Amino acid sequence: MATVQPARQVYGKLRVPGDKSISHRYALLAALAQGSSHLTNFAPGADCASTVACLGGLGVEIDRTAPDVIVVHGRGLGGFQPPGMPLDAGNSGTTMRMLAGILAGQPFTSELVGDESLSRRPMRRVIAPLSSMGARIDAVDGHAPLTIHGSPLRAVAYRPEVPSAQVKSAVLLAGLHAEGITSVTESVQTRDHTERALRAFGFAISIDRLTVSVDRGQQAAGCSLSVPGDFSSAAFWLVAAASLPGSRIEVTDVGLNPTRTALLDVLGRFGARVHVEESATHAGEPRGTIVVEGDRTGAVEIIPAEVPALIDELPALAALAANGGQVTVSGAAELRLKESDRIAVLVSGFRALGIDADERPDGFIVHGNGQPAGGIADAHGDHRMAMAFAVAALAARHPSKIDGSEAVAISYAGFFDTLERLVV
Ligand code: S3P
Repeated sequence: MATVQPARQVYGKLRVPGDKSISHRYALLAALAQGSSHLTNFAPGADCASTVACLGGLGVEIDRTAPDVIVVHGRGLGGFQPPGMPLDAGNSGTTMRMLAGILAGQPFTSELVGDESLSRRPMRRVIAPLSSMGARIDAVDGHAPLTIHGSPLRAVAYRPEVPSAQVKSAVLLAGLHAEGITSVTESVQTRDHTERALRAFGFAISIDRLTVSVDRGQQAAGCSLSVPGDFSSAAFWLVAAASLPGSRIEVTDVGLNPTRTALLDVLGRFGARVHVEESATHAGEPRGTIVVEGDRTGAVEIIPAEVPALIDELPALAALAANGGQVTVSGAAELRLKESDRIAVLVSGFRALGIDADERPDGFIVHGNGQPAGGIADAHGDHRMAMAFAVAALAARHPSKIDGSEAVAISYAGFFDTLERLVV
């Protein structure tokens, strides 16, 4: 259980671990490419380790030459071996859903399992489109474990019911193994890392507004790629700076893909000074430096159309108002289907810290109301909840404790050490 001391400000310059979403995709596509890929600044957390372990179970050799460097010896499309035992996606929804897309077209049966949290998360959203492509998938009432009877696939033109990059990616990856041209048309743009990564590896895709199409059976070559810092991890420090006036945080080498950075606009609306400088684009992914200076606390309202681009930042965003101001979120019922029910867990944890928060069916309201007392907040094993509570607890009068703080290892093992370094 981590203890968080009150802080009046946060100050400093840092890098954050490699992007989790991009790392999953590079590992999967490197495995589907021919030859070796050298992936640096690869996300060192437990989620991407689950993807690496699953690929190992499919016969893909992967060397970890440093905590954040892996070399993937790709087997090419059609080169995977039938796994001798269930593939364990651990806590990682991205691993399970994207891998389901790849496994749907393999000439063997495989089983995907996950931890207790992942086994509660909805899988029909991938089972439905993959079944319509010809795969047979057994599940337990729409949940893992999934038994995937791989089959020859036919292309589909799919329109996902919920905005989800994982669903879009699963269908596109299945499309690499399907007869014909597979397309996905989104109602709202979600993160486009799969599209950028497919191109980086040399898989041809076409994009027409919100429709992405992929053809079957292209062979791609391994390559050397470096992963930018994870914007969703940086978000906790950027919010901490914005919520505590007089703070200044500078994050370097962080991913600036526009489908991920909507938080920056929200921080500006709240009253922070935000400065962004793009320094390079690598494999289609822009990166650079973000500086946030806390100035004043305001009120921000997140409307439903904004939610897909902010989905992983909403827990951090809630902490923006811990020290004053207000954050209102609606249209975010999807938060209840993440690693935990992030609406219920957030509101009960904030109240335990003495922060005024209310639950809505599809969102929450946090009213900053003077300095909260602090307390003990339970993260329910959810990495982003643990980090959101830690940032909120900075505003408190007394030290707070975060129960389940070890969950940060899913995406950001060094989070609490970095917190100690940045507080003033
Ligand atoms: C992710 C997509 C999002 C996000 C998750 C990572 C990805 O989920 O919440 O943390 O890497 O594609 P959905 O696709 O379910 O919205």
